[in-house]
Amino acid sequence: MKVVGVSGSPRPKSNSSTIVKTALEELASKGAETELFEMSGMKFEGCSGCMYCKSKGKCVKNDDITKIIDAISNADAIVFAAPIYFHRYNSQFRALIDRLYCLIRPDFSCALPAGKKAIVISTQGAPDETAFKGETDWLAETLNSYFKFNVVDKLIFVNGNDVNSAAGNQEFISKVKDAAGKLI
Ligand SMILES: Cc1cc2nc3c(=O)[nH]c(=O)nc-3n(C[C@H](O)[C@H](O)[C@H](O)COP(=O)(O)O)c2cc1C
Repeated sequence: MKVVGVSGSPRPKSNSSTIVKTALEELASKGAETELFEMSGMKFEGCSGCMYCKSKGKCVKNDDITKIIDAISNADAIVFAAPIYFHRYNSQFRALIDRLYCLIRPDFSCALPAGKKAIVISTQGAPDETAFKGETDWLAETLNSYFKFNVVDKLIFVNGNDVNSAAGNQEFISKVKDAAGKLI
């Protein structure tokens, strides 16, 4: 099976990347073919709402997000992780989600085959894991309803301002590995 991991953090080293890499390594050890995308350092634009995709079936833009969309289209499962910035996902990650609109047909059906499995992970600085739970739920619901994904787990990583905090949290790393196992 092919699994794509997307770290939406703009930080070159980030907890989101550590988490996605952990999941991909777990899946690779079980025989999955994996591919990692780190949005940090990538060059891309947000959706400009031109609706080119609605008549042409693909986005008018060709940049690093195009590569992520192509990989997601060809994957069996996807691992998404991104930080919370002021109650919402960071703008770089939101640019990816908006650009996925090119996969939605004019009748709002999805061009992707239904049933791609996914896990969704949010990282945040605050210690209360319920504080921004609605954002994680929003992403899972968007993937399930618009793209007919099967989101099999949602995780929230707290106290994440230090880029090394996920790597040092064995309890959370175990949760990530367990979640990754549900993708197989
Ligand atoms: C512009 C900005 C806004 C942020 N807003 C919040 C916030 O509203 N709540 C919170 O808990 N953490 C907030 N944070 C902290 C990040 O969510 C936290 O550092 C996260 O773990 C970073 O993930 P990363 O290591 O994957 O980059 C913010 C950070 C930045 C840079």
